[in-house]
Amino acid sequence: MGEQKQRIDEASAFLRKHSAIQPTLGLLTGTGLGGCAESMAVEYEVDYGAIPHFPVSTVSGHRGRLLLGHLQGQAAVVFQGRFHLYEGYHPWEVVFPIRLMQALGARTLIVTNAAGGLNPAFKPGDIMLIKDHINLTGENPLVGPNDPDWGVRFPDMSCVYDPKLAGQAQKAASRLGWPLQNGVYAGLKGPSLETPAEIRFLKTIGADAVGLSTVQEVIAAVHAGMRILGLSVITNVNQPDRPVPATLEEIIAVADQAAPRLARLIQQFLEHLE
Ligand code: HPA
Repeated sequence: MGEQKQRIDEASAFLRKHSAIQPTLGLLTGTGLGGCAESMAVEYEVDYGAIPHFPVSTVSGHRGRLLLGHLQGQAAVVFQGRFHLYEGYHPWEVVFPIRLMQALGARTLIVTNAAGGLNPAFKPGDIMLIKDHINLTGENPLVGPNDPDWGVRFPDMSCVYDPKLAGQAQKAASRLGWPLQNGVYAGLKGPSLETPAEIRFLKTIGADAVGLSTVQEVIAAVHAGMRILGLSVITNVNQPDRPVPATLEEIIAVADQAAPRLARLIQQFLEHLE
């Protein structure tokens, strides 16, 4: 644990040396959604590979860049591209961006991802507000000795996604005249996608969408005491009785198409954020 702390300290010292920005907001973007920060007034940007100890992302659709600047007037750090368990990263590496945000002082996290729809009311291209999640990865970034400087041993998970932020996102969507779905996100390890029987299971246990990211980072962010807003772009809809093959190309294409809308929504949300 001490070693990990030291890595985070060195990474945050590197960023502080290059930029005086003290972010209160952190944004972590998923597959094809790295453009969410297009409207950012960027003051400093750097490839992940140049930051000491930073893991390097390997999956296509992820940019692997960190931006520091202002988003709608809020000092922010944006991570374009994340690390997945299925790439072989340790949960601790997956949550490196969250620990770095924490070290830089961010108090609010906006996390986005691409997800497969399970709720039959969803259509590809829909945006879903994450109201809760189910961690089915079999992993947890808090396993091991707890560092009380980072958070408590047994973080409460009764209210992970901040209802106030969710309400403000709903209002932002209303102002734009856009529908916003909401539901429960099930996080799996992957990389194989779901069988029809698994999709039936996920629907039965109350999931509205399924994906291969987010839950590790969100658990670390809860541990860090952050307020969390989660948004999923529904890239495909899984129907167990009419299974259709899903491909990464299609998932990225739909996510790319939805990215400008997601960016507008986040912009609108931030304009009214207290
Ligand atoms: N399953 C898992 N992850 C996903 C999917 C899916 O159908 N779509 C986008 N990410």
